[in-house]
Amino acid sequence: MSAASASDVTSVVSGQQPGLSHVAIIMDGNGRWAKSRGLPRAAGHERGVEALRRTVEAAGELGIRYLTVFSFSTENWRRPAAEVNALFGLLKAYVQRDLARLTQEGVRIRIIGLRDGLPDDVAALVEKAERETAANSKFFLTIAFNYGGREEIARAARGVAEAVASGRLKPDDVNEKSFAGFLDTGSMPDPDLLIRTSGEYRLSNFLLWQCAYSELVFMDVLWPDFDRACLEEALAKFHERERRFGTVSPGAA
Ligand code: FPP
Repeated sequence: MSAASASDVTSVVSGQQPGLSHVAIIMDGNGRWAKSRGLPRAAGHERGVEALRRTVEAAGELGIRYLTVFSFSTENWRRPAAEVNALFGLLKAYVQRDLARLTQEGVRIRIIGLRDGLPDDVAALVEKAERETAANSKFFLTIAFNYGGREEIARAARGVAEAVASGRLKPDDVNEKSFAGFLDTGSMPDPDLLIRTSGEYRLSNFLLWQCAYSELVFMDVLWPDFDRACLEEALAKFHERERRFGTVSPGAA
């Protein structure tokens, strides 16, 4: 959110998006955006951060309370080291540049995924961002970094097993609700809407448990070109959908 913006997240109008509090985004297409301009892939990621800034601002203005974005997957380690390092650098730069403003605007920042394997300076900055925004609750920005849905579920299962083994949890009390509490997303609501850009139709191991009933919207736009109009288009598609959660439409019986 720019300093000049009168409509920062503090102006969220509740109920502006009925039935929609959490949007998750697979920010795809940075590499293709860069390649089509003869630029290195890292340049696409840099522009991707600008798109993320625009999206956080627009989401707040449009009455969304939770935004979760996929920044680096457990599979992205297979990319060239220079690109991996560029992504670490961008996460650091984003937190360093935006933390004070986001804190002031009431944004709670959380980073989900595996902390093991992150360089010490990145891990320290991530912890600082979480600590300094822990009391905020106007808008929840969650960045999935070194994240994989299956890894998260396996880690949660390990947490459940340990809790049962130590007697803190009874086997009979292991259910969907208690299990979800062991996931990185904890008590956050599940995403109502999952957006993937760049014309790919995959979940790519993102929020596998949490997206069980999310509406999926796939868009052709490459992530660095994503803007408020794209978000509004995705929200409009969401509002056209009828969410039945396994039941039938009213009057269909
Ligand atoms: C997918 O595009 C995108 C990523 C793997 C990284 C997403 C990262 C950002 C948007 C910027 C980083 C933001 C923070 C806060 C660290 P791709 O590279 O797979 O694109 P391609 O499919 O066109 O090659």
